[in-house]
Amino acid sequence: MATMENEIKKRRTFAIISHPDAGKTTLTEKFLLYGGAIATAGMVKGKKSMKHAVSDWMEIEKQRGISVTSSVLQFEYDGRCINILDTPGHQDFSEDTYRTLMAADSAVMVIDGSKGVERQTIKLFKVCMMRHIPVFTFVNKMDREARNPFDLLEEIEQVLGINTYAMNWPIGSGRDFKGVYQREERKILQFTAADNGRHEVASEEVDLADSDRLEAMLGEDLYQTLADDVELLDGAGAEFDLDEVSAGRLSPVFFGSALTNFGVEPFLKDFLRMTSSPLARATADDIVDPFDKDFSAFVFKIQANMNKAHRDRIAFMRICSGKFEKGMEVLHVQGNRKMKLSQPQQMMAEERQIIDEAYAGDIIGVFDPGVFSIGDTVCAPSRKIRFEGIPTFAPEHFSLVSPMDTMKRKQFVKGMEQIAQEGAIQIFRPLGGGMEEVIVGVVGTLQFDVLVYRLKNEYGVDLRMQGLPYSHIRWIENEDLDPRTLQLSSDTRRIEDLKGNKLLLFTSPWNIDWALDHNDGLELAEFSRN
Ligand code: G4P
Repeated sequence: MATMENEIKKRRTFAIISHPDAGKTTLTEKFLLYGGAIATAGMVKGKKSMKHAVSDWMEIEKQRGISVTSSVLQFEYDGRCINILDTPGHQDFSEDTYRTLMAADSAVMVIDGSKGVERQTIKLFKVCMMRHIPVFTFVNKMDREARNPFDLLEEIEQVLGINTYAMNWPIGSGRDFKGVYQREERKILQFTAADNGRHEVASEEVDLADSDRLEAMLGEDLYQTLADDVELLDGAGAEFDLDEVSAGRLSPVFFGSALTNFGVEPFLKDFLRMTSSPLARATADDIVDPFDKDFSAFVFKIQANMNKAHRDRIAFMRICSGKFEKGMEVLHVQGNRKMKLSQPQQMMAEERQIIDEAYAGDIIGVFDPGVFSIGDTVCAPSRKIRFEGIPTFAPEHFSLVSPMDTMKRKQFVKGMEQIAQEGAIQIFRPLGGGMEEVIVGVVGTLQFDVLVYRLKNEYGVDLRMQGLPYSHIRWIENEDLDPRTLQLSSDTRRIEDLKGNKLLLFTSPWNIDWALDHNDGLELAEFSRN
């Protein structure tokens, strides 16, 4: 019988992070295929729907259903119930992408073997590090010409600051890709590209000790390289230590090729073996155990309904403990109000489904009549706990925004505040300034288009937008410091947010260093906890 404890134990909730085009969609799709959640490849719509022109906002809106659908995928594999959280890339990259990572218990980092660690991967990785969640690396596209695997590992270690442990080792790449050596089993999984140019793969296991057969199979050069590499790995590499993996200090690395399906299933199996069931969550003064029978969850993402006639929204929450049952009464802690969560839904591969129950580790989307904010807690009314908030992440694009028509100021302020509350944009103003003109910061520029569209459509306000040259923002951590006393380069700007936090806008990382060098004791943070 499905007890609550068993249900929670079998859950694995993780995000896949990568730079666009590294192969996240392809890998996700292969996972779904193994789980039997989809029948054929090419059904996951994530990427194509993200490849729209920025101006094509109406189109995006029409496709919202798709991006909602692909934001969480649940399927069963090997007796486990898997929740994959999608982290949108391309133009859809936004603060939501970061927030999604707050709901994951671990992450799979996909790296293109020919490119190594890329920009977006670095940003997402930093958030994983902040949370100390385990990160598993899949070096993809080994069927294409790839960089030297030792260099790739070194780059991961240097650029990301995490230790690595190669679980398998590639033999050649591109045309010469012959497969991987599986270190634990000391066996070779062979890759054979099909004659017809398609990507069927025959895999055969061969023992490393069987040198005659291996040399015949790999050729002299590749065999020798492999023998040397393995010696080097075994001799000089770090020890494998699962505790280090769980603490997010050691990343197990797997080489493979998602497109040709090579190394994907062994990766999935090992990954699931090494990851844990849902992790405990911290509240302000306690830790909530996922197996606690009382339901609790927190909101990590709010999706506005783009239809003007319906101002409703969907709030996505991660269940942290217990069991959710449709129609149950919960307490919305921040609103101090008891409520029923209506239209609870979950994404099963392709479809959005209304669900009757869900467990710790699961993500559910619920109808939000406009009461939730990012980071809010809902829980069994007897509990009244408050999960630690979700940080505000640094936007990278800034515009000065005001209403074209000054008579529309009231609607302007209301609209801006509402959209900021949903977490789609952040708003700032000059120190001590009013709301006549605000500085809007976003993580991905698509949010500017969303803002213009929504202010016009929902609030009847045309916006005047002027792009600003800043690319970096930092929260001033020193509590009683008056920013006016700071020595700053002339192109650095002092601002505040609506909660009164003081911030600085910089045009380059160089200016951040300059500020730190010229102001003793100044503490700057890349994200804000309040
Ligand atoms: P993303 O979600 O990370 O953005 O990447 P996605 O999976 O969409 O993959 C990006 C491109 O890389 C796709 O090609 C995909 O087929 C290809 N790809 C993914 N994994 C592998 C791999 O292991 N080996 C090789 N050789 N290619 C891989 P595309 O031509 O841009 O798109 P499509 O027309 O094939 O969909």
